[in-house]
Parts: sequence; structure tokens; C-alpha cells
Amino acid sequence: MKTVLHVVGARPNFVKAAPVLAAGARHGLRQVLVHTGQHYDDAMSEVFFRQLELPAPDINLGVGSGSHGAQTGALLSALESVILDQRPALVVVYGDINSTLAAALAAAKLQIPVAHVEAGLRSFDETMPEEINRRLTDALARLLFATSPEAVGHLAREGVPADRIHLVGNPMIDTLLAKLDNLDPHPFRSAHGLGPDDSYVMVTMHRPVNVDQPEAAARVVSVLRSVAARVPVFFPVHPRGRANLEEVGIGGVAGVTVLEPLGYVDFLSAVRGAALVITDSGGLQEETTILGVPCLTMRTTTERPITISHGTNRLVGIEDVPGVAAAVLDGSVTAPDERPPLWDGRAGVRIAAVIERFVNRP
Ligand code: UD1
Repeated sequence: MKTVLHVVGARPNFVKAAPVLAAGARHGLRQVLVHTGQHYDDAMSEVFFRQLELPAPDINLGVGSGSHGAQTGALLSALESVILDQRPALVVVYGDINSTLAAALAAAKLQIPVAHVEAGLRSFDETMPEEINRRLTDALARLLFATSPEAVGHLAREGVPADRIHLVGNPMIDTLLAKLDNLDPHPFRSAHGLGPDDSYVMVTMHRPVNVDQPEAAARVVSVLRSVAARVPVFFPVHPRGRANLEEVGIGGVAGVTVLEPLGYVDFLSAVRGAALVITDSGGLQEETTILGVPCLTMRTTTERPITISHGTNRLVGIEDVPGVAAAVLDGSVTAPDERPPLWDGRAGVRIAAVIERFVNRP
């Protein structure tokens, strides 16, 4: 039987892969799950496997952290050995992280076809490592699974043949909808002394541009200080920015509660109850769109414009965040009613059907 090799490495990958693996299992595919170990802490990795009912990885490469070149190089070398050993009929990669690009490159050089889940997103900001990863992965892929019509348009303009592109919806939203009944904000509210009607803001911030330099981290702290003067702010801090944010005093800001990274269910339960989210994450722009929670993305570009046209997201320059946050909290900003097409909980099923046809083609 032919093998489908799925490669995941970091938090957002786990959330996207869960529905694809589940649907692939229902098709009776022989699937091998490789965890590269790009994320390795319990709070960044294992908790997602437990809560999303992901099968334990068949292979864990334990590659860990490093500079982009060192990390990608280590991933490339380790994944090449796995692919040579497993001889899969298809390698499935997710999103835009360094593990995604390394797996696509290792497979393509060994003449193994690559499927890219979440193909065609473009921020057109080449200072983002993710933009480089996505463009190169798409260039190497044989099956390109797009979450939005804009993504299909980008791929078509880049010359990808139409029969390689599949508009399937959004597997990250499959996971969200599957877990929706478990997302209860009340335990989070009680744990932090908030009543059922109290407003609060959830924050995540981990992009290099916002946290890698002390000056940028200081600007983040100053924005959060002004938002927290009005409503409580909760900030589960990604390990990437912790040292810089602590250095510039995030721990001592009145009204800001700094938390450890949260697991999937705890985090999205808290987001579901929030009056507002302030973030620089990609996936959270999509999740807030479906949860109907206003989202301010503290970036100058987004690769997910459908979350603005069909959702609750808006791009806000750092200096405008306090003013726009106040307007949202006053209820003077509303979002479009229409949700993105095909974000209906069935993307994984559509992806698995295409994969099954591809690997079993005559
Ligand atoms: C990576 C992805 C980013 C994604 C994010 C989700 C790339 C280029 N970036 O960024 O697109 O949005 O994951 O979280 O692939 N660390 C730990 N424990 C861990 C993992 C990381 O302490 O389990 C620390 C390490 O000090 C590491 C730093 O976090 O140096 C950054 O980790 P890395 O995997 O390089 O990138 P992320 O910022 O997590």
C-alpha cells in the first residue's frame, strides 16, 4: 500500500493537520506522521496532540531551535533520510514554517510529489520568513490546497496549472468548529476574577518584527499599557519574545496579566469570551473571524485578506491600536456578516479525497 507522509513541526501545523489526518484515516490511507520537533515544549507541542486527538508522531526528529539557516539545514538533512527510508507516494506539508519548506525541498529533490495545505497565501512582504517559505513551497508542490479564492488567484498569476490547485476551505477552521462545544470562556473568567459581563482583551505577539528588538518590544508594551488602562489585558507569551518583553517591563504593567503559552482549548475558550483580540498571528485572524470576535492585527500586511473582507479582522499600525481598540470596545465598529466560502468544517474531508485519488491514480 502506498504511504502518505505528513510533516508537521509547530503549533499552527498541528491544528491544520488534525482534520486531514482524520479524514485520511477514514479513506484507509497508510499515513506516517513526522514531527520535526521545531516546537518541542509541552505547552507548544504535546498539549495540541492530546487535545486535538492527533495520533502520536511515528517519527520525531527533535530538530529544535536555531537560526533560520541552521534550523532549515538540519530539517532538510533529517527529512531527506526519512523520505529515503519511507519512500512515500506523497509528502504533505502545512502552512509556512521552516519545517514546511524543508520537507517540500527534501521531497522534491527526491522526485516525490508534494502536497501543500494552505497554498497561495501572499503577504507580499518578503521581510517575513513565512512569505519566503510559502512562495518556495508552492513552487515545489504538485497538489496545492487553497483556503480562499484570493489564494487561487495568486497561484494562477504565478503560472501554476489550474489542475494542480484545489480550493478546499480551511482545515484550521475544521478543527475550530469540531471543538466549538468545548470552548467555554467561563473557567478563564472565574480563574481571573472576571464576571460574565466583564470585557477583556486577549493578546498574542511573536513575529520577529514585533518582539525580536528591544525597541519594538517596548512599543508593544506601551500600546498594551494604554489598552489596559481601560480593560484587563491577558497575554500568553510565546517563548520567542519572552526575554525581550520582560526586559522592557511587560511584567509590571498595571492591568496586563502575563501568562504561559496556553493549550488549544484553553486559549480559544479565552478568545471566544474576549471583547477584542490584538495579535500578529496568522491563524488567529482566521479563528476570530469564525468566532465573531473583533481582531486588530498589528502588522502592515496580511496574507489573509479574506479575514478583513469576510470577517472581524483589521490591520492597524501600532500607533493607532489604542484608538481603534477604544472604538471597538465602544461597539462603534462592526464586521461583515458573510463568512469566507467553504470555511464549513469539511476542508480536511475534501483534501483527503484529492490525496486518495492522487496516490491511487492508475
Ligand atoms: C514559528 C514559525 C511561525 C509560526 C510560529 C507559531 C518559522 C519561520 N516560523 O515561529 O511562522 O507563526 O512558529 O508559533 O518557522 N521555543 C521554545 N520552545 C518551543 C519552540 C520554540 O522555547 O517549543 C523558542 C526558542 O527559543 C526559539 C524561539 O522560540 O528560538 C522561536 O522558535 P522558532 O521555531 O524558531 O520560530 P517561532 O517564532 O516559534
